[in-house]
Amino acid sequence: MARGKRFRSADWFSDQTLLGFAHRSWMKNQGWPHDMFDGRPVIGIASSASDLSPCNAHHRQVAEAVKQGVFAAAGFPLVFPTMSIGETLMRPTSMMFRNLMSMDLEETLRANPIDGVVLLTGCDKTTPAYMLGAASVDLPAIMVHGGPMLNGKFQGRDIGSGTDVWRMSEDVRAGKMALSEFMDAESCMSRSVGHCMTMGTASTMGSMIEALGLCLPNTAAVPAADSRRMLAAHMTGRRIVEMVRQGQRMSKVVTRQAFENAIRVNAAIGGSTNAIIHLIALAGRLGVPLGMDDWDEFSRDVPLLVNLQPNGKYLMEDFYYAGGLPLVMKELGDLLHREAITVSGKSVADNVDGAKNYNPDVIGTLKKPVKKVGALAVLKGNLAPNGAVIKPSAATPALMKHRGRAVVFEDNEALHKLVEDDKLDVDENCVLVLKGAGPKGYPGMPEVGNFPLPKKILKKGITDMVRISDARMSGTAYGTVVLHVSPESAAGGTLALVRNGDMIEIDVAKRRLHLDVSEAELERRRKAFKPNPAKAARGYAQLYVQHVLQADQGCDFDFLRGGSGHKTPRPNH
Ligand code: FES
Repeated sequence: MARGKRFRSADWFSDQTLLGFAHRSWMKNQGWPHDMFDGRPVIGIASSASDLSPCNAHHRQVAEAVKQGVFAAAGFPLVFPTMSIGETLMRPTSMMFRNLMSMDLEETLRANPIDGVVLLTGCDKTTPAYMLGAASVDLPAIMVHGGPMLNGKFQGRDIGSGTDVWRMSEDVRAGKMALSEFMDAESCMSRSVGHCMTMGTASTMGSMIEALGLCLPNTAAVPAADSRRMLAAHMTGRRIVEMVRQGQRMSKVVTRQAFENAIRVNAAIGGSTNAIIHLIALAGRLGVPLGMDDWDEFSRDVPLLVNLQPNGKYLMEDFYYAGGLPLVMKELGDLLHREAITVSGKSVADNVDGAKNYNPDVIGTLKKPVKKVGALAVLKGNLAPNGAVIKPSAATPALMKHRGRAVVFEDNEALHKLVEDDKLDVDENCVLVLKGAGPKGYPGMPEVGNFPLPKKILKKGITDMVRISDARMSGTAYGTVVLHVSPESAAGGTLALVRNGDMIEIDVAKRRLHLDVSEAELERRRKAFKPNPAKAARGYAQLYVQHVLQADQGCDFDFLRGGSGHKTPRPNH
């Protein structure tokens, strides 16, 4: 019955007893012919399509294209849904549910007759959630990213998801834009299927899966509405069947070399700071050592090569047409491990060497980068002993070295009230500090780190100030924003001890973040402080607050690190 190699699914479908009868018979109610159970590779197609995740809603069609590819390669495709986490609707933050979605995928894969999996992702956290879950099972796995929306078009110009929203929103607050125009921009910005079309977290994570070697080359940035998106899906369906036959498991692709490549690519594209958290969590699942210092080390010698919002001016459509990620990877040359193997079955060098530059204004070169300044720096000091992150490429150069008086907001709600208050004791040289927005504190570490400036500062025409928090920020956001301070304030990090009037120093060149308060005084404040994680009486929120790790460890759950493999579980009857 089985053709050649015996796959895992044969434990279900090749059985000749009551169990095999049950496994096959109920499946046949979908009209599958008997020969689909002849030992061919069974391919799971994990779909995060959901009306509640607009960036992934088109995956219903993408799944069909993958299915056709699997059939073409004589595999048996089975589409299954999982939880989906959309960035724009979920509260308190989609990040809180990344680990839950990863658990959904992990357990679905292990419990079912699946030999290899195609992962359909798009919106920010759906990509890492699937990567984490698949890594802990370690079957052959390949990804199809949903692709970006077409460029937004508003009042005769391009506008980008997120980046222009932050800008327009501040313009409304400063009285520079009418509310009616702001409302008009809504439908002009999101005008096709797909995810945010800036180099936000979704585009960054798409680039990360391509840099890690987890999707077919030059597929992550194909616009969602472009027919080549469906072509990519079809070819991925064909390829996963071969991967199963070749035994190309995820851990054979996502190695330490692949992570180093991804970090360098992230620096070159000016990727989202969220990538740091997600890739550290992924490394933890695969048992690959990776920490904040690696991000700083491998980002340092890489200038910004990509002129996309929020670091520059263009959008993802322009990026794809200019040559896309293969061109960036080709340009990085020997800074990458060019021999690293990818899911295409070929090396990085094989995948990217044919890339050409069709628009040097969108994608620069190492000799003529878009910006010399790096896209990412990890800061340390008494204010962030385990690290904090800043994105210099999206920050104000003059603030890269700064000393200022702290203006402290104890939580996000207090912040939103106080920034509107003209009596707030603040000037543009102050350092704004937000507490209580970390993984345990909020909970879930929301994207509030690029919080609004006080209205009285905006009225002066000032658009940036140093802001520090234990939050994340959207990959579409910009500003001189220090994020991911670890340990977080709710867990008793130094951030919790900052008071109004304290002096704070930031020196990005020296990677320093310092609270200028004596150790004796800090110790006195520390003794008086009680950790204040979010209150969660039951359910998933309680599990989250109790088990989530800090940002420098990827915000994974302590009990999810590592993997449990894909051994067939005990029979169900
Ligand atoms: Fe889904 Fe930006 S909201 S990718």
